[in-house]
Amino acid sequence: MPKITNNPNLKSIRIAGTGSYLPEKILTNDDLAKIVDTSDEWITTRTGIKERRIASDAEATSHLATKAARKALEQAGVEADELDLIIVATISPDTFFPATACYVQRNLGAQNAICFDLSAACSGFLYAMSVARQFISTHSCDTALIIGAEKLSSMVNWEDRNTCVLFGDGAGAAVLQRATEEGDHGVLSTYMGSDGNQTDILVVPGGGSACPITPANAEQRLNTVSMQGREVYRYAVTAMRNACDRVLLDAELKSEDISMVIPHQANLRIIEAIRERLNVPQEKVFVNLAKYGNTSAAAIAIALDEANRTGAINRGDKIVLVAFGAGLTWAAAAIHW
Ligand code: UT7
Repeated sequence: MPKITNNPNLKSIRIAGTGSYLPEKILTNDDLAKIVDTSDEWITTRTGIKERRIASDAEATSHLATKAARKALEQAGVEADELDLIIVATISPDTFFPATACYVQRNLGAQNAICFDLSAACSGFLYAMSVARQFISTHSCDTALIIGAEKLSSMVNWEDRNTCVLFGDGAGAAVLQRATEEGDHGVLSTYMGSDGNQTDILVVPGGGSACPITPANAEQRLNTVSMQGREVYRYAVTAMRNACDRVLLDAELKSEDISMVIPHQANLRIIEAIRERLNVPQEKVFVNLAKYGNTSAAAIAIALDEANRTGAINRGDKIVLVAFGAGLTWAAAAIHW
């Protein structure tokens, strides 16, 4: 399988600030049971999700992203015009083009940044972290803003109980800079993997150039999420476990060194399986999916910000972020906070 491993020549980069934004509207499992044939009991036991946030018609992905970004910039003490690079990881962009990152640039007034989107589904935020790390570490730029942002409610079939109960909207952001002090605080190692042989098991099949939406196929809802959940589940556990092993090895850390694992928030059973295989106690795994469901590229970014702001992670902690998503894609990062 293709993979990009850690480059030992890369220097550490620090996370100078984090931010997140969740839309106000809450959709509970009971609310969903009024729309499709499901129940709070089924959703809770199969996934761990209790509710999710839904963006308003007036909020596009770039609006969620901008709000998360402003908080990250504020915490970092960085002005928008100091940004050299903005990467928005998303599978629900405002438009096919221009990039959602360009809308965020306009909203922030970050006129000195280069901007692009990154499509790696739920692994997108960690892919963005890895890409920004290359730019910063090689002195191509000093300050990067990476964002995971999704308005998945706009691409879910609200008549399909297999998928509509799983997803939510939200955004998380981080400001990255070159580490300036001794002690290697920052991102120690990153890892990314992909397997294009599994493109069919989690896909929005229509709406792109392969299958444009036409009056003839409009009723098939091909521009909404289609997932073979069991298959995805099977790959997720193995790929995330291997990704964790890899970043720990590259960072010269052992399981017992980990203060917190922040996994992709898709399914509590997947998180539990990874926790068991990593052999870390429950209190060392950050879980917030009961509140937000699966927000794809935003999930780890939101969780990282919550962990940061609530004191679940503290300076000196060794943390591991790990994600898995459509593509298939997977990724991990080891960080000395
Ligand atoms: O973020 C990207 C990565 N995504 C993931 O990691 C998702 C991975 N997959 C999963 O999390 C799980 O596979 C799901 C939560 C999606 C599904 O759980 P499952 O235990 O794999 O259930 P299933 O798909 O095998 O469905 C079991 C039964 C089926 O009924 P039958 O055929 O056994 O009669 C489904 O029709 O549950 C039924 N079902 C539902 N019932 C009530 C499916 N969705 C629902 C629902 N409410 N919402």
